[in-house]
Amino acid sequence: MTKRRAFLKNTFLGGLGVVAASCKGMAKNHSVSSNPGDKPIVISTWNHGQVANNKSWEILRAGGSALDAVEAGVRLVESDPEGSSVGLGGLPDRDGNVTLDACIMNHKNECGGVAFLQNIEHPVSVARKVMEETPHVLLVGEGARQFAIQQGFKERSLLTKKSEQAWLAWKKESRYEPIINIENHDTIGSIALDKNGNLSGACTTSGLAYKMHGRVGDSPLIGSGLFVDNEVGAACATGLGEAIIRVAGSAIIVEMMRHGMSPQEACEEACKRVIQKHEDVSNLQVAFIALSKTGEYGTASLHKGFNMALRTDKLDTMQEAAFQLG
Ligand code: GLY
Repeated sequence: MTKRRAFLKNTFLGGLGVVAASCKGMAKNHSVSSNPGDKPIVISTWNHGQVANNKSWEILRAGGSALDAVEAGVRLVESDPEGSSVGLGGLPDRDGNVTLDACIMNHKNECGGVAFLQNIEHPVSVARKVMEETPHVLLVGEGARQFAIQQGFKERSLLTKKSEQAWLAWKKESRYEPIINIENHDTIGSIALDKNGNLSGACTTSGLAYKMHGRVGDSPLIGSGLFVDNEVGAACATGLGEAIIRVAGSAIIVEMMRHGMSPQEACEEACKRVIQKHEDVSNLQVAFIALSKTGEYGTASLHKGFNMALRTDKLDTMQEAAFQLG
């Protein structure tokens, strides 16, 4: 850690009155970090992050932009009918509708999002169109769908036979119980640093299975599901969206990095914030990934079981997150 970083970190933490001892948990495995200077680099959430990273890497290695890389990467996961939490094949809401949330942000602080979007396979690309073709940041529901059609996106049903059967089985009891750490259960979030040193990020999800009709989570919300500041770094979230929104998860990670924390320290601090702000986190999973302007990365979760896919020139691997609770 540089002297400047150490100074800023101490000042920032002191100012906030944040001390490690005040937190309910300490990270159980604190091993994630990279040497600054690794670029290009892409990190993504969960095992399906490796699928996204492979695609992103083709673009980054050839000198393409971080923005193109993250969009192309997460699109593959959106199109996978086997994934039950993103795009095609995503589990529906309690009324049987697949509703999608996504956002994207580039190195110029430009951003776009869509929420509660139906029947469009690639919400992340619609989000990019919102960013590039409109003066707005977020379009929702029917307005987002109409905009997508105007932009040339085709409509299709996203409810697969498998996801419909799962919904019909759920309907017999209609009990909503989030279950932590079911593989492939959540958002694909991806952050990249390209050869030019520019950061971008994207995240996309079908949200919580069997949610209330109209429910929107953290994933389309800039500052909650994703935040990028090209001077500092970027962060992305996965897990229970309501808990992430309550602490503005991705934005606070980037702010903590701005004030001197490493991506790893900032992700852990954000997890502690979630723990502090909720009475019972026993069945609540939240996880973060973060990447600095210099290519350092980090990941942390509340509970064991979250992993991050990492791709650099030297590494193509899954990294288990540091977790706060057993
Ligand atoms: N993190 C995804 C959601 O809560 O919708």
